[in-house]
Amino acid sequence: MRQHAQPIADSLVREVAKPAKQSLDEVVRSADLIDYTAEEGARALGAGELLTSDSFPGQTRNKLCLVSKVPLGVVLAIPPFNYPVNLAASKLAPALMAGNAVVLKPPSQGVVAGAHMMQCFAKAGLPKGLVNMGSEIGDYLTLHPLVSCISFTGGDTGIAIARRAGMVPLQMELGGKDVCIVCSDADLDLAAKSILKGGFSFSGQRCTAVKLVLVVKEVADALAAKVAAGVAKLTVGDPKDDVDITPVISDSSADFIEGLVEDARAKGAKFLTPYRREGNLIWPTLLDHVTPEMRIAWEEPFGPVVPIMRVDSVDQAVAHCNANNLALQGCVFTRDVNRAIAISDAMETGTVQINAAPARGPDHFPFQGFRDSGIGSQGIRNSLAMMVKIKSTVINLDKDSYARG
Ligand code: G3P
Repeated sequence: MRQHAQPIADSLVREVAKPAKQSLDEVVRSADLIDYTAEEGARALGAGELLTSDSFPGQTRNKLCLVSKVPLGVVLAIPPFNYPVNLAASKLAPALMAGNAVVLKPPSQGVVAGAHMMQCFAKAGLPKGLVNMGSEIGDYLTLHPLVSCISFTGGDTGIAIARRAGMVPLQMELGGKDVCIVCSDADLDLAAKSILKGGFSFSGQRCTAVKLVLVVKEVADALAAKVAAGVAKLTVGDPKDDVDITPVISDSSADFIEGLVEDARAKGAKFLTPYRREGNLIWPTLLDHVTPEMRIAWEEPFGPVVPIMRVDSVDQAVAHCNANNLALQGCVFTRDVNRAIAISDAMETGTVQINAAPARGPDHFPFQGFRDSGIGSQGIRNSLAMMVKIKSTVINLDKDSYARG
């Protein structure tokens, strides 16, 4: 993949309008992820367990239990359009290391990048037929009796898949409404920089994008001004030119984002930057004085729109965060580490970043959503554990001869 990184990255630029440098980074990150998975898997999956029966009350020592990890079978991997390569690799690599076969269903936009990646695997000597790429989703793949695990990243479709999956183990990541809580003692320059990067990189089309800023009133004016100054400098246009803001994935996605923006406008949000749209290219938009009555206080735009809600207290911010069914990540900015840990404990989300924007990487860190944001935990180590089932073989020694020995 490293040798063929550029053509794969070029596909990402063309298919999903990911800026050129981020596209190349995605491919290199994926190669690193595969390397790490191979190393981690060799050790983690090779380790078994031996239990003896006499460690349980009333038992003799004649039973030995060998606990091993065995493959699940066929893993169905369904990555999303925003990381067609990386989120395919993060499913494929652990599944293969654990001894499974894989059916990959790439996103419709991102399928060419996925096909390039598959060619790399073939060139690297992957046995034929071990990974197959399919274009059909719907019931055929997700309900197929030979599928032993579904690893899905995407939107609401995941909930429908989960409802019908029955006994098939699931690894699901279904997005988030990642909040950014800014306390009165926060480093506002750092918070503003993080909101800018976290909210607008890949035009906000990341599950871990900052999707709502919850700032205490004392510092709200200062923070809003700093973020607005940064937004004004973002470049907009063609992903080949490596600009910051590029077209969102589809017209329907742009329509959805616009619906949230117009709902906020109608309910009194203040626009710190003018809203502008040409086709599916939306200029970065910063909204202030967002209230809980607005849809954008709850729904994820998956676009270059960051709403700011002013709160009376951090408790109010945490309560808003916990009232949302989407609970992937969140972040908190404060100079007081004790306070940060207390806030993190109170936030019911899969991950809380202290003094940095939400992010999935580094890729061996656990990554999980609470409530409607997901099932199971990802990250290399947890994905390896997810891709096996535990098998016990119990050796029953003859009690008499064992005792004599
Ligand atoms: O949007 C999917 C999610 O996995 C984001 O990953 O690396 O941009 O934090 P990342």
